[in-house]
Amino acid sequence: MNFEFTEDQVMIQQSAREFAEAEIAPSAVERDIKAEFPYDIIKKLGEQGFLGMMVSPEYGGAGFDTISYVLAMIEISKVDASVGVILSVNNSLVCWGLEKYGSEYLKQNYLTKLASGEKLGAFALSEPEAGSDATNQHTVAEKDGDHYIINGIKNWITNGTTADYTLVMTQTDREKAHKGITCFLVERGTPGFESAKKEDKLGIRSSDTCSLTFTNCRVPKENIVWEEGKGFNFAMNTLNGGRIGIASQALGIAEASLEASKKYAKQRKAFGTEIANHQAIQFKIADMAVKLEAAKMLTFQAAALKDAGKNYTKESAMAKLYASKIAVENALEAIQVHGGYGYVREYLVERYLRDAKITEIYEGTSEIQKIVIARSLLSGN
Ligand code: CAA
Repeated sequence: MNFEFTEDQVMIQQSAREFAEAEIAPSAVERDIKAEFPYDIIKKLGEQGFLGMMVSPEYGGAGFDTISYVLAMIEISKVDASVGVILSVNNSLVCWGLEKYGSEYLKQNYLTKLASGEKLGAFALSEPEAGSDATNQHTVAEKDGDHYIINGIKNWITNGTTADYTLVMTQTDREKAHKGITCFLVERGTPGFESAKKEDKLGIRSSDTCSLTFTNCRVPKENIVWEEGKGFNFAMNTLNGGRIGIASQALGIAEASLEASKKYAKQRKAFGTEIANHQAIQFKIADMAVKLEAAKMLTFQAAALKDAGKNYTKESAMAKLYASKIAVENALEAIQVHGGYGYVREYLVERYLRDAKITEIYEGTSEIQKIVIARSLLSGN
């Protein structure tokens, strides 16, 4: 196993770090308070290739590997996990899925714009009654000549109010259960497609999350991704990569928590010395660092398997399960290290905790990750 990053990977990490510090950090606190979407930042990230990181240059992407993507996601999420999730959804759930399973028509007409950052994407699987139980799709698409008519509601959609193109899972043949689920690319502005108001969230407040409604929404058959009946497999295969993105987002939060704790411990004095000299604080810092490294190893392992073209279902679930858990733990410990100051906005660590919690919920809860891991182990993989 090689633990060295290539020169290219280090360069991408460095440019993500510089961008995050110069362009994202200055507005992060205010955007969190006001729950403001970072339009300008996303536009600039697109211009620098961060919205289509793993898409081949042929389709307007940067052509980077998954390891580079993880490194960039960590740097960006370290500064602002809201920007992290916007990138993760566009890169892993939308662009990757379209390049892997989309027709040449979809790639030329939509993927090129998503990968270059000209347009933004969303992924709509969850519904009011289909969260963890994702096969229980109630959104229907009925064939009508060369079109399909979509009716239904989607919930908790990241980039929901801002995305130009949304990948929507629908039931096209209820008799076939999950084998009757089909994915469509739906353009914003298609009559009958509306997004509701943004959810008022605990964390990742600068990202936008909302419900979508489809009322007799006509979509051409060319907009089917992969083929009719393959929508559930599409969603599951795509989510495996999405989970690497969310693990990386969690790593960013966990690392930011550790960095903030180290800095504060060297400044703050108690009992006549910097608190960094007290074992109680040293133990916390050591524990946070060990957990972070272990979670990084799991995430890089999943990314390396993906880059090698091997199966990474179990490994991506493990990475997300553990990285999200330690992101919450590290954020909690960072607050403890900061004492009362950790509980107020000024020191940022309270946001790390609010942002960390969602990583244990979206793109498959921790409980779902355990099911994926256990089923994989029990089936001999
Ligand atoms: N990778 C590839 N295929 C998978 C898979 C995975 N991780 N998990 C399941 N599948 C496949 C199975 O192999 C099976 O395929 P075939 O029928 O072709 O053999 C098919 O999916 C159905 O699987 P199961 O019979 O195991 O179905 P189930 O209902 O018992 O369980 C589940 C499936 C694993 C619980 C699944 O429903 C699941 O992952 N649920 C969580 C959904 C999720 O992550 N939602 C997040 C939505 S995105 C989001 O959060 C919003 C956002 O904007 C960020």
